[in-house]
Amino acid sequence: MDVLVVGGGGREHALIRKIKENPRVRTLYALPGNGGIAQDAVCVPIAATDIDAMVAFAREKAIDFAVVAPDDPLALGAVDALHAAGIRCFGPEKAAARIESSKSFAKALMRAHHIPTAAWAVFDREEDALAHVRAGRFPVVIKADGLALGKGVVIAQDLGEAENALRAMMREGAFGRSGRRVVVEEFLTGPEVSVLAFTDGNTVRPMVASMDHKRALDGDRGPNTGGMGVIAPNPFYTPDIAERCMREIFEPTVRALREMGCPFKGCLYFGLMLTADGPKVIEYNCRFGDPEAQAVLALLQSDLLTILEAVEDERLAEAEVRFSRDASCCVMIVSGGYPGAYAKGVPVHIDPLPEDVCLLHSGTAEKDGGLVTAGGRVLGVVATAPTLSQAVRRAYDAAPCVRFDGAFYRRDIGRRAQEA
Ligand code: AMP
Ligand code: GLY
Repeated sequence: MDVLVVGGGGREHALIRKIKENPRVRTLYALPGNGGIAQDAVCVPIAATDIDAMVAFAREKAIDFAVVAPDDPLALGAVDALHAAGIRCFGPEKAAARIESSKSFAKALMRAHHIPTAAWAVFDREEDALAHVRAGRFPVVIKADGLALGKGVVIAQDLGEAENALRAMMREGAFGRSGRRVVVEEFLTGPEVSVLAFTDGNTVRPMVASMDHKRALDGDRGPNTGGMGVIAPNPFYTPDIAERCMREIFEPTVRALREMGCPFKGCLYFGLMLTADGPKVIEYNCRFGDPEAQAVLALLQSDLLTILEAVEDERLAEAEVRFSRDASCCVMIVSGGYPGAYAKGVPVHIDPLPEDVCLLHSGTAEKDGGLVTAGGRVLGVVATAPTLSQAVRRAYDAAPCVRFDGAFYRRDIGRRAQEA
């Protein structure tokens, strides 16, 4: 069969590598893919958000199955458009994707269904938000309502920082329309856990839990990024907590969306914080996390394409979703300056890699037969091993195999998890 994957980052590269393992796959296309994905799939220069061109391409090539991985096309209705054209695909339709694209929608759903989350209030007027913040405690968390590339969250330590964040989002439009409405929420503390779960709208099958490292610098310092590295499984996520999350969070969320008439079919991402009062939802995403997908899919033993098709066909309950008992670690090699300004087009050199390590490309491009950087996050070094400390060591032993001017990576991915 011919399969299309929409997107062009490390998550898509991880999906493509796994999908390729299925012998039924004849041609695999990536829209638009990247320099490294080009070694595993046919890259087509159509932007992930160009839905008309995507549908036309899928029709022209008589694509048998499409996977829409990034949040933007999902929020724009890419899956609705592909379905309307008669193309089977993996990913939620636009109405279900609101669980990520509107934080106020997600919060209202949690309130209505008693799903534990940080206390919150939503504001459309800056003066109302200011009055609320002045009357409350610090730190306080201020979030742009819509999609903001993972950068729409400010943890304000005092009133001055809160005022600046509200002004930037609500008056100066720092996140465009995404920030005109803000959610102000209680600051929670505790270990963070990312749980990606397959769901066909009825059945929920969580994958191995992982831990992202969002801050740019060692010791969780510096600005928030899209993610600097991941380990899986997450040792803080015990079987008892998993059982509680299933009962209090995962199943009620999927049921709520189904009852609202927008069943979620795809990968639902639960960003959780394990607080002293129990697990609470920090955020939902309507897609695989990036780089979480890189570490988590490295441990998947069942056939990915079969699972993706079972989701679309609403037969997930019958599908085998099995993970290895090993551990994995993904270290992101990023461009100097990321998440701020950084250079692009810098030549990348890759030395031969040790065993049990793979490289997934996030932001590379082909140029004159070689590879150059094309984004902030450039490559993910993914290692698997029987234990977490071995996986971490393998990833770090291999990281120097990737060389480019300005290359940077955190040195402490997995440290907190190893101290758990
Ligand atoms: P988000 O984009 O919603 O995942 O938020 C980015 C990061 O901000 C999260 O991974 C948390 O580390 C932090 N964060 C978000 N909401 C809260 C909260 N209510 N309390 C504490 N930290 C938070
Ligand atoms: N790594 C966080 C995300 O994908 O949103």
